[in-house]
Amino acid sequence: MPLFRKKAPEPELPSVLPEHIGIIMDGNGRWAKKRGLPRRAGHGYGAQTFRTIVKHCEKRGIRYLTVYAFSTENWKRPQEEVDAIMNLLRDYLKESLADFQTENIRTRFIGNFEPLAPDIRALMREAEEVTRDKTGLTLNIAVNYGGREEIAHAARLLAEEAAAGKLPPGDIDEQALSARMYTAGQPDPDLILRPSGEYRTSNFLLWQSAYAEYVFMDILWPDFRPADLDMALAEYARRSRRFGGV
Ligand code: IPE
Ligand code: IPE
Ligand code: MG
Repeated sequence: MPLFRKKAPEPELPSVLPEHIGIIMDGNGRWAKKRGLPRRAGHGYGAQTFRTIVKHCEKRGIRYLTVYAFSTENWKRPQEEVDAIMNLLRDYLKESLADFQTENIRTRFIGNFEPLAPDIRALMREAEEVTRDKTGLTLNIAVNYGGREEIAHAARLLAEEAAAGKLPPGDIDEQALSARMYTAGQPDPDLILRPSGEYRTSNFLLWQSAYAEYVFMDILWPDFRPADLDMALAEYARRSRRFGGV
């Protein structure tokens, strides 16, 4: 036996990394069902995976990470499940207050927060304020987020400015819309991951994903490990992005 056990070598990192990764954190319910557990247990494990993967993205030097936590369509689920997800969000925000202070992560929320409980909204605001000047990873958590809702919201803002005489309608271009998205000022996602074996966007970052590279993975979110993210990074590095050029 050697005196010191060698640590598993770090995988060789691809030279091209995405600046912005989006993740559709899907498959919690099926993961729980496979184990004879209630769906909410799957969300609990999924929340743990989220914490692990945020740290891993930071370690890999990713600048922006946007995670899909709750969609504008997810209210259709049984009230008990919606409550469980909201409780997990509340617990995460309360537990993380100390970490928000010490870590170098800028936490932001994207979506329409009006229907959320006032105490959750207050915790979200606090997380944003405490981490506002952090210079490391920017973490966007999408809560009651829908790509269509976001586009409609941006259109409403533009219409209000135009009606108030502050914006000539002829000035409304792609940049003007981008500047009114919840992700204003951030680069578009380069890579979007969807675990769980579903091949659809489910209303995630519709506007911003015009030229995103998609990686669909046949793994349920609670089972998703840092090594799976590394595999997706390697796959991304093999892609040839042309943006309509040659
Ligand atoms: C994703 O897991 C979490 C949310 C949508 C909040 P699901 O709950 O959609 O899990 P599946 O897709 O039913 O397995
Ligand atoms: C997308 O997953 C939303 C989140 C992961 C938060 P869904 O499970 O809601 O999507 P569908 O219903 O399979 O399209
Ligand atoms: Mg799902």
